[in-house]
Formats: sequence, C-alpha cells, structure tokens
Amino acid sequence: MVRVFASMAGLLTLTSAALAQITFNVVGYPSAATGSFGVSINGQITKLTATEDTFPVFSGVVPTATSSVQYSYVELDATGAAVKTEAFVRQLHNVTATHSYNEFFERPTTKWTLPPVPYTYLATWPSYTKVFDDDEIATIHVTADVAQMAALIANPQNDTKTDIRVTFRWIDHNDIYTQHNISFTNSGKSSKEFQKQAYKFSFDTDYNQTFYSRPNIKLRSEVSDPTMLREKTYIDLLNSAGIPTQQAQYVRLFINNQPFGLYMMVDDIKKSFVKQTIHGGDPSVIPGSMVQMNAPLVTLQADLIYKGPTNASYDASVYAPVVLGNNPVTDYLQQLIAFMKDLQDYNPATTPDPVGYWNNTRLDLDGFLRNMAIEYLAGAYDNYWMSGSNYFMYFNPKLGASGKWQWIPTDFDGTFGDGYPTSTQSSYQTWVDLKTYDHPLISKLILNTPAINALFETTLKELIQTVYKPEALFPRIMAYNQMLLVDYTWDVSINRTGPGKVNGYTVADFNNNLLNTTTKDMSYSVKGWITDMSNSVSTALKFTIPAGVANRVEPPPKPTKDDGKNKGGNASGGNASGGKKSAAGSVVASTGLVAVLVGVASLVSLLL
Ligand SMILES: *[C@@H]1O[C@H](CO)[C@@H](O)[C@H](O)[C@H]1NC(C)=O
Ligand SMILES: *[C@@H]1O[C@H](CO)[C@@H](O)[C@H](O)[C@H]1NC(C)=O
Ligand SMILES: *[C@@H]1O[C@H](CO)[C@@H](O)[C@H](O)[C@H]1NC(C)=O
Ligand SMILES: *[C@@H]1O[C@H](CO)[C@@H](O)[C@H](O)[C@H]1NC(C)=O
Ligand SMILES: *[C@@H]1O[C@H](CO)[C@@H](O)[C@H](O)[C@H]1NC(C)=O
Ligand SMILES: *[C@@H]1O[C@H](CO)[C@@H](O)[C@H](O)[C@H]1NC(C)=O
Ligand SMILES: *[C@@H]1O[C@H](CO)[C@@H](O)[C@H](O)[C@H]1NC(C)=O
Ligand SMILES: *[C@@H]1O[C@H](CO)[C@@H](O)[C@H](O)[C@H]1NC(C)=O
Ligand SMILES: *[C@@H]1O[C@H](CO)[C@@H](O)[C@H](O)[C@H]1NC(C)=O
Ligand SMILES: *[C@@H]1O[C@H](CO)[C@@H](O)[C@H](O)[C@H]1NC(C)=O
Repeated sequence: MVRVFASMAGLLTLTSAALAQITFNVVGYPSAATGSFGVSINGQITKLTATEDTFPVFSGVVPTATSSVQYSYVELDATGAAVKTEAFVRQLHNVTATHSYNEFFERPTTKWTLPPVPYTYLATWPSYTKVFDDDEIATIHVTADVAQMAALIANPQNDTKTDIRVTFRWIDHNDIYTQHNISFTNSGKSSKEFQKQAYKFSFDTDYNQTFYSRPNIKLRSEVSDPTMLREKTYIDLLNSAGIPTQQAQYVRLFINNQPFGLYMMVDDIKKSFVKQTIHGGDPSVIPGSMVQMNAPLVTLQADLIYKGPTNASYDASVYAPVVLGNNPVTDYLQQLIAFMKDLQDYNPATTPDPVGYWNNTRLDLDGFLRNMAIEYLAGAYDNYWMSGSNYFMYFNPKLGASGKWQWIPTDFDGTFGDGYPTSTQSSYQTWVDLKTYDHPLISKLILNTPAINALFETTLKELIQTVYKPEALFPRIMAYNQMLLVDYTWDVSINRTGPGKVNGYTVADFNNNLLNTTTKDMSYSVKGWITDMSNSVSTALKFTIPAGVANRVEPPPKPTKDDGKNKGGNASGGNASGGKKSAAGSVVASTGLVAVLVGVASLVSLLL
C-alpha cells in the first residue's frame, strides 16, 4: 500500500501532534525524472515527496511509526512501484527523534564520530557557522544554465568565460539552504587540467547573499590523491597547532541533476576569511594587508627575496593583494616590501636579539615556525619551504603591540608522499637545496639563526610528541577512510565528459595507498609517511615519542550561534532570501517547536 503525504501536510501534522509521527527525509536523484522515493517499514511503502524548494530531499510523515522504527528507503517509479530498495535497515539517530536526518539514498551512515585530534598549541575557532561539520558529507545541488555549463565543461581553460549565475542548494543532515543568483565557476590552476574540475562559489554579500557567514567557498577536486584525505589530515594538523586555516567538509556535488563527484569544500581565503576565521567574526577589527603568494614557474617563486622598493619589481601573479590594508593603491606591496627589505638586511650573526627582532613587530614567529614544521613533517612539496608557493601573509593588527605578519597557508593536497619528488625522506637541514632557489625565511631564520633554530626543533618535538604520530593520527585517518568509502566508490563510477586528464584511481587505490605505495604518482603511503617521518625526526633530535594520545593544551571552546550574535557579527548567516528548511520538514521559524528541534540538532552537531 502506498500512502501519499504532501510536505506541507506533514508540517502541520508534526507541529500539532504526538511524537509517534515520524518525518522521513531521503536525499536522492531518481533514475527517471518521473520517479521518486519512499520509505519502507515492515514491507509497507510510504511515498515521500520533494518540492521545488526541497528537491532532491524527499520527505513525508508516517503517522504510525515510532522512534524505534526500522526502515529502508526505496526508489519508486512513476506508478509508485519499487525500483530499488536499500540493502540495509536504518534506525533513527535518536530514540526520541521525530524526524530522520536528511539521509542520502544508499549511504548507510549520515553522521560519524571522528576521533579527536589532540591539541598541541593554543587555538581559537573561527566564528560560528553551520557549514564545515567535518563528521558528515553534505550535498550541493546546483541548477545552472545548461548551455553555460556545457561551455564551461567543454573548455575549462577559457579564462574569458561569462559570469555564470546559479541556484545553489546545500543540504546537510539537518538543513536545506537555498540561494539564487550565486556566482559560480571552475577554479584552480593545475586542477583545470583534469576532467574532474574544481569549482568555486562566490556569494555577493553586498546583495545580501550569504552562506552561513562563509560567502566564498571552493570545492577541491582532490584528483591527485587516491585517498582523498591527505589535505583534510593536513588541515587537522594546522588546527592542532593553532594556525588559523581553512576549515573543510566533504560534499557530493550535483549540477542540473547530474553527478559531478565527491569534493572537499573549503573556505576561499578572502576578506571574509580574515574576519570570520582570523578575527573570530569580530566586526570591530579593521583588517590589515593581505597578500597571496604563488609560484607560477620554478623561476618565479614567492621566495620573499627583496627585489626593489616598488611593486614594479614583483610579478603580480606571484604577489597578489587580497586585502589592501595600509598600502596605497598605487603601490600595494609597500608594507610587504619593507618586510622583505628587513629580511635582506638581517644578519643572523650580528642581530642582538633575533627572536625579538622578528617576533616583536615583524613576524608571528611561533605561527611561522609551526607552519614550517608541518610543511616539513608532511612533505608539503608545493608550499613555501620547497616551492615558494601557496601561502598568504596577513598583517594582523591584533598581534603583538602594533601588529605583525601572520602566515596563512593554503592548498595541501601535495603532502604525505603525493607529488613528493623522491621516495626518500631527508633531514630538514638537507630537505631542499636553497642554494639554487633561496627561501630566506628558511635559510636565514630556521637554518642560520641558532636561537630560532632551537625554537624550530622544539616545535618539531612538541608536534611529534602530541599529534604527529601514528597513535594520534591513524584512528582519525581510518575514520575518514570509512566515512568516504561509499562516496568515493560513487565518485569513481561517474562518467564525466570534458577534455582533461583522468588519473584513473580506483577504490583499491583509495584503500591501498593508506599503507602501500602501490599507486602511480605516489612516492609514499599516508601512514608510512607519518610513521617514518615521526621516527626519523625523533631519532635525529634525540627525543622519545610518548605512548598515549592527550591534548598538550586545552582545546578551544567551540563557538555557538550566540557568540556570533554577541559580537554583532551576524555569524548565523544573515537574513538570506530563498529560505532555510530543516529536516523536521518545515521552513525554519524564529520561534516554536521546529526552531527548538533545529536548535537541539545544531547543538548536537557542534558538540560532536
Ligand atoms: C536525543 O534527543 C534528545 C531530545 O531531542 C536529547 O536530549 C538527547 O541528548 C538525544 N540523545 C542523543 C544520544 O543524542
Ligand atoms: C570563451 O568564453 C567566451 C565567453 O563565454 C566565449 O565567447 C568564447 O567563445 C569561449 N572561447 C572558447 C574557445 O570556447
Ligand atoms: C544577481 O546579483 C547581482 C549582484 O551580484 C545583481 O547585479 C543582479 O541584478 C542579480 N540578478 C538577479 C536576477 O537578481
Ligand atoms: C540588503 O538588505 C538591506 C537590509 O535588509 C536592504 O536595505 C538592501 O536594499 C538590500 N540590498 C540589496 C542589494 O538587495
Ligand atoms: C603597483 O600596482 C598598482 C596596482 O596594480 C599599479 O596601479 C601601480 O602602477 C603599481 N606601481 C608600481 C610602481 O608598479
Ligand atoms: C612572540 O610574541 C608573542 C606576543 O605577540 C608571544 O606571546 C610569544 O611568546 C612570542 N614568541 C617568542 C618565541 O618569543
Ligand atoms: C558509466 O558508463 C558505464 C558504461 O557505459 C555504465 O555501465 C555505468 O553505469 C555508467 N556509470 C554511471 C554512474 O552512470
Ligand atoms: C599492499 O599491496 C599489495 C599488492 O597490491 C597487497 O598484496 C597487500 O595486501 C597490500 N597490503 C596492505 C597492508 O594493504
Ligand atoms: C546584523 O544584522 C542586523 C539585522 O539585519 C543589522 O542591523 C546589523 O547591522 C548586522 N550587523 C553586522 C555586523 O553585519
Ligand atoms: C529578514 O527578512 C524578512 C523578509 O524579507 C524580514 O521581514 C525580516 O525583518 C528580516 N529580518 C532581519 C533581521 O533583517
């Protein structure tokens, strides 16, 4: 028997009646446009419905169900007949729940429990947001102009393409969030060479477009990494070290109902990142200068070598301003050039207090050393130490007495043996040949200033003793591997079009490269890299790695929605048009039962 309940009817029933009515929510794309989904309980199928505002979330209420109900979702054809039933049985996430999560068809687990990563150095959280819950895989459903999408896919390297505006819908375990007219395009440099493109969305905050206070997001394709977890693991290390960084959440992307793949969604580093992540959402901070560093060629690196007093001497693709700060528009690098001049003039042998010289007014020395220690420990081949690339420097007015430059790293897929040029690890002293391409913050500070070198070695030791060891990282890595398996399997099954390269990694590679260096292009396995590096550094620096996993410092308290409000930062995402819907099946209201349910679910997800 098939029962039909429209979602508005479901809403009315939910808000007015007993707890034994359960709202079921399945996320899925029927194989035929006329198809739909249902929920099967004891062999009885109840059809679920999606509206223009909720698709691809199909919802409905089953009045006789209890919170201990066992159920499966079913794909239905146009006549309501079952086409495909999930091969497993589900239970609600909570014995008192009145609604299921938004649960992806055929994905057995929606919320995971990730083993925590121990904290090495004091950290702060970015401002409150509903995105970047890394214990679940969200869904991004994009509706775009068909011809514009076809042109983008056919010619991803076309840099003169028109501004594509799309309808963006984000679905997590609890919410459905829709915004129209969002700027969308493919992103990256080398990632454009691959068939699976990387993408970015820009929400125009001047037009009241928001995405939970994260208006610039990128979808990283992770094509070079068969395990898809290297970059996320690196972000976990940065969080452990208290370095302000892009947070990340895995998502499934669909455009015009077509599958595009599994991605890692991160913040794009723009002005809002400075406010929300570096300054915790505090709207009273007037941001300092920020410059983005890249190395388009091996001969054109962001090495920080002084080349002259004006920006005319610096390639705009190597040093690009993001936030102007105190710089005049006519010479946007002035403040950074002063820093590079100081670096050129700095003599490690004659500067009386080298730590103070750098750390008092010029550089957040501890943050820089932690970044460089992690680059070395993870073998980051495409960042500063090895390649003079993929970082930002932000003149943070809140650090020290009068502000100083803070290191903000980016792009960590080339780590743990992905893209590493040899299959041999080396000591940090001999890791990179700086005689050919000097990176003076490494050569002058870390290698040639004894007091700073001692701080660097202490940083390596504290990181390895706390977080950079198998016992602390492997449980987390294995949890990601399990969490991603169903979605990775789906990703590699997608038949993409477009001119780019295909690495051809398989599910076997996805599992194997955790321990085995059996996959092409990989010079190491993820776990092998971490084991060998932590052992070799502890041997070289003569310290032991203690057993056990413990925070070295107190973890930072997670922000709540109210923190954002108290700061006046509107951190909950603002008053977006288009609307938010909760898994309870209704538009989120500011008062009433539904809002309470949502509040509890959000709090639970925050605590997890
Ligand atoms: C289940 O939900 C109730 C009320 O919504 C909440 O108090 C309780 O903590 C939840 N239990 C679990 C295990 O999440
Ligand atoms: C690049 O995009 C522009 C704008 O959409 C279009 O006019 C042009 O034909 C495209 N070029 C190629 C080679 O596809
Ligand atoms: C889309 O947003 C842009 C600003 O980002 C605005 O200029 C334009 O009018 C909007 N278009 C529609 C159809 O709302
Ligand atoms: C954005 O919202 C503000 C306040 O609600 C309103 O005054 C303004 O006109 C809106 N801007 C646009 C471009 O819609
Ligand atoms: C510095 O860059 C700005 C912005 O691109 C440009 O207008 C200016 O001419 C440059 N100044 C010099 C001295 O190159
Ligand atoms: C660097 O300065 C900060 C204050 O801005 C201080 O907390 C920190 O201990 C200093 N680091 C060193 C190595 O002196
Ligand atoms: C991809 O194409 C193959 C061969 O045509 C087909 O068997 C497979 O079902 C397709 N995969 C998807 C996800 O459509
Ligand atoms: C490593 O790869 C080899 C060859 O594919 C395989 O036989 C072996 O079982 C793998 N070992 C592990 C631990 O995955
Ligand atoms: C937060 O939102 C309120 C109401 O929309 C607005 O008045 C206020 O200016 C906003 N604050 C910030 C910092 O954007
Ligand atoms: C949010 O938008 C609605 C509808 O546009 C409006 O009635 C309400 O006042 C806005 N709230 C805030 C806080 O701006």
